[in-house]
Amino acid sequence: MAIEIRPLRPTDDRSAFSCGEPALDRFFEHYAGQNQFKLKLAVTYVALAGERIMGFATVAVGSLERREVPDARLRRRLPSYPLPVLRLARLGVDQGAQGAGIGRMLLRHVFLLALAQRDTAGCLGVVTDAKPDAVAFYEKLGFVPLEGLREGRLHGDPTPMFLDIHALAAALDG
Ligand SMILES: CC(C)(COP(=O)(O)OP(=O)(O)OC[C@H]1O[C@@H](n2cnc3c(N)ncnc32)[C@H](O)[C@@H]1OP(=O)(O)O)[C@@H](O)C(=O)NCCC(=O)NCCS
Repeated sequence: MAIEIRPLRPTDDRSAFSCGEPALDRFFEHYAGQNQFKLKLAVTYVALAGERIMGFATVAVGSLERREVPDARLRRRLPSYPLPVLRLARLGVDQGAQGAGIGRMLLRHVFLLALAQRDTAGCLGVVTDAKPDAVAFYEKLGFVPLEGLREGRLHGDPTPMFLDIHALAAALDG
């Protein structure tokens, strides 16, 4: 199956897409477009097989506090103002296409965007809030839980996760 990944267009038909998480489906159908085309808050990338949308990833510029950086050695070398990262805000693969490598392809595309941000504006890595069922998926790609955000979290809460820019560049090479 040949997959193309490109930014969402206003003409893309999002109504048939379902990843099995109603909140994500609702976001994709009703808010991804206005966030991108009107409000300019985020950009959604779609994975297409022909005209059919098989998956999407929404990214936005984000920031991280020094105390949240998991690597203690790196943390000591960083300044104490907000640090630039790329935020993976939403990710979903259509139920009929899950397990076929599309999530990994979308992440690979997000990693390329993080490298472009690194080279044009600075980027320490990629952060995301992983749903409990998706934590293992992100761990497989090298993400680690963020520091300092564990206390007070409730069972079932998303896990904030981080992939350092160097690890991400190495993952793309490997
Ligand atoms: C999580 C999700 C994005 C993964 O996408 P996908 O296309 O099914 O994943 P891939 O086929 O690219 O899988 C890549 C690897 O991760 C593994 N994987 C996929 N989903 C996983 C999960 N939930 N837990 C553990 N491992 C998982 C695959 O087995 C594969 O491993 P392999 O390379 O060793 O074979 C997709 O299942 C989905 O949309 N789920 C519902 C919505 C959701 O949870 N989104 C994430 C919100 S944080």
